[in-house]
Amino acid sequence: MTNWKRRHILSLADFTPDEYNTVLKTAASFREVLSRKTKKVPTLQGLVVANLFFEASTRTRNSFELAAKRLSADILNFAPGTSSLSKGETILDTAKTYWAMGTDLMVIRHQEAGVPGAIAQALDHLGAKVSILNAGDGQHEHPSQALLDLFTICSLLDPVNPRWELLQGKKVAIVGDILHSRVARSNLWSLLSSGAEVHLAAPPTLLPQLFSNWGKDTHPQGKLVLHWELPPALEGADFVMTLRLQTERMRAHLLPSLREYHQNFGLTHDRLQLCQPQVKVLHPGPVNRGVEISSELMDDPAFSLIPAQVTSGIAVRMALLYLVGVGNQPLN
Ligand code: NCD
Repeated sequence: MTNWKRRHILSLADFTPDEYNTVLKTAASFREVLSRKTKKVPTLQGLVVANLFFEASTRTRNSFELAAKRLSADILNFAPGTSSLSKGETILDTAKTYWAMGTDLMVIRHQEAGVPGAIAQALDHLGAKVSILNAGDGQHEHPSQALLDLFTICSLLDPVNPRWELLQGKKVAIVGDILHSRVARSNLWSLLSSGAEVHLAAPPTLLPQLFSNWGKDTHPQGKLVLHWELPPALEGADFVMTLRLQTERMRAHLLPSLREYHQNFGLTHDRLQLCQPQVKVLHPGPVNRGVEISSELMDDPAFSLIPAQVTSGIAVRMALLYLVGVGNQPLN
């Protein structure tokens, strides 16, 4: 049982320490459920979860779907190509249709920033008791990804009791296409509020100077450093998060060549020698092998947390669905 108050999860910008820790603690309980022989609890029995993905996804969509199934919810899946969107229906009318069917939770991904927020606002206005979970909107935010990254890191630091405070003083480097990354933006909120030292590294075309103002007003305790070359970001790092080059979002020619990008910013075993000996590497996926990270490093279990991130995602998304769905009721 928790005293969770938030109806929608749209952004981590105003998440409180209590909320971070509630998510981590709840996810740890669900991880225990997932280790049982019968990996299912009746927690969301009778509730309807609609997965509205207007943009491509493998990990996030399947992870939310499996999380909902493990919680015994009924799940509706939506694919834009085979829906009435192709007949001219607006996104809001699609959402209202799902509400009229009795949907309790909508998981929404859209290529434009702000769509999940706008749907939440419109449904609130109509008095609908529907929760919206942002599963990635344009370049804006991807809260469930940053929360699963947090859970993966904190679980490594304390497998029994993963908590937000464990990140205090840790050096975390985020490397790559920060400009186009909603994952980086959500991670900036969670990492800066946790007291980690955050180092961003990318070519100047993918890391504009204005990122140095990130959270200055709202997270004055946060430590953020920008680098336009890789080595100083890696020096002494405890965790390195590398990001995909999001060519589908690039409106101009921002890089000389992928080969040169890999030479300057690609993660390799060699490069990691600058980091702490126990350094771990994260990547939200999908990965461009040999571009942002070498194939060998990606597949090396001594360094790569990539499979652990995917596994953590299910427990974290179970936690989010539970908290916004029935957070004031016992867990199972
Ligand atoms: C990310 C996304 O869609 O924002 N992937 C994901 O959800 N696991 C990152 C990306 O597409 O590069």
